[in-house]
Amino acid sequence: MPAYLQKELILPCGAILANRIAKSAMSENLSPINHKPNEPIIRLYQRWAEGGAGLILTGNVMVNRNAIAEPGNILVEDKSDLDMLKKWAAVVKNTNLHLWPQINHPGRQAMGAINKKVYAPSAIKTDVKGLSILFKTPQPLEESEILDIIERFGNTALILKEAGFTGVQIHAAHGYLVSQFLSPLTNQRTDQWGGNLENRARFVIEIYRNIRRKVGDDFPIGIKINSADFQRGGFTEEESMEVVQLLDQEGIDLIEVSGGTYEQPAMIGANVRESTKAREAYFIDYVGKIRKSLKAPLMLTGGFRTVSTMEDALAEEELDVVGIARPFTVYPDLAKDILSGQLDQVSVPTPKIGMKMLDSTGFVDLKWHEIHIHRLGKGKTPNPNLGASGVIWHNTSVMLKKLVFGRV
Ligand SMILES: Cc1cc2nc3c(=O)[nH]c(=O)nc-3n(C[C@H](O)[C@H](O)[C@H](O)COP(=O)(O)O)c2cc1C
Repeated sequence: MPAYLQKELILPCGAILANRIAKSAMSENLSPINHKPNEPIIRLYQRWAEGGAGLILTGNVMVNRNAIAEPGNILVEDKSDLDMLKKWAAVVKNTNLHLWPQINHPGRQAMGAINKKVYAPSAIKTDVKGLSILFKTPQPLEESEILDIIERFGNTALILKEAGFTGVQIHAAHGYLVSQFLSPLTNQRTDQWGGNLENRARFVIEIYRNIRRKVGDDFPIGIKINSADFQRGGFTEEESMEVVQLLDQEGIDLIEVSGGTYEQPAMIGANVRESTKAREAYFIDYVGKIRKSLKAPLMLTGGFRTVSTMEDALAEEELDVVGIARPFTVYPDLAKDILSGQLDQVSVPTPKIGMKMLDSTGFVDLKWHEIHIHRLGKGKTPNPNLGASGVIWHNTSVMLKKLVFGRV
């Protein structure tokens, strides 16, 4: 029995996670074209709630209808969907599990086709080899627009709290807007929001403070942040550690560590060394270095597949929560089976279609998992043996259904 994974965890705000397994955020892309929560989303999270992870993070939820990352994202900018949000949050009612929406603004990583204009700290376009056509050159944000986005993070968090969610997570990783502010590659501003690290970190700190002011001291606020961008001239490990320390001093409740951007998708192990993949947790060196200097608990996500590796990392106090994403799409009961001692490892394929452009960007891998998320949303069982060619069919049919019927 995995003794460490079974332990509960008290967060700085006083909330308790029932165990040390978290289902990390995965964009569901299930919402209709109006970006509202729907029955498939509720069914999906009902299924994941049955799976027993102490913390379930939702896929990224948008804070502004003028900045949507992907066509099927959910948007929460006012209370118009409060009833459905309440239904969604209720999947963990009467359980000891936590369900936290991840809130996000995509900045320059918003798909060009679904956004009239794209906004970012500076006018630097996302450059993914072979897929650049998906993105637009962003418009640099005016100071008033920056302040508006900060306010929106707070408002969205407050609406989600009212709906009954038990916490929120700020998405500050993977090259989205908060991460764009942190990186000197994408933030070349010369005002108080750019330049030295203190200025680049101002945006995330102000978002945290705004949310905290609105939701109060006893509501969990977490953050997902890059250990580094893995890009020359980008956000470095040393800088990341400084920002994490600032957030710790502010009173953040849980720090999830990941890494990479669309341009360098290290978060899903793309271009990560084979030796790093073999030892599983891609960013474990980082957490080992910073753990002792933090009050806030640390969660690490990316590559965990065997229970003994998870247990060792917890036993050695390198981290406090094990984050797992892709395996949950094909094994929704993963946490329950690990915690009961029935499962000591999980493996998921990394499907490839043989087109370097799509395989190396992680596109096929992401879409393969999205298929299973959609199957769970329809009440179907996942199919781990599904071939990569299904990805092309899935993607085309999702796009067509959206265009013709306005839903998946
Ligand atoms: C289909 C899919 C969608 C994802 N969407 C998000 C997201 O919305 N927010 C986020 O922070 N990470 C997202 N991720 C990254 C995961 O949370 C996680 O960091 C990554 O998959 C590595 O963990 P794993 O090796 O356990 O899968 C996504 C991953 C996949 C496969």
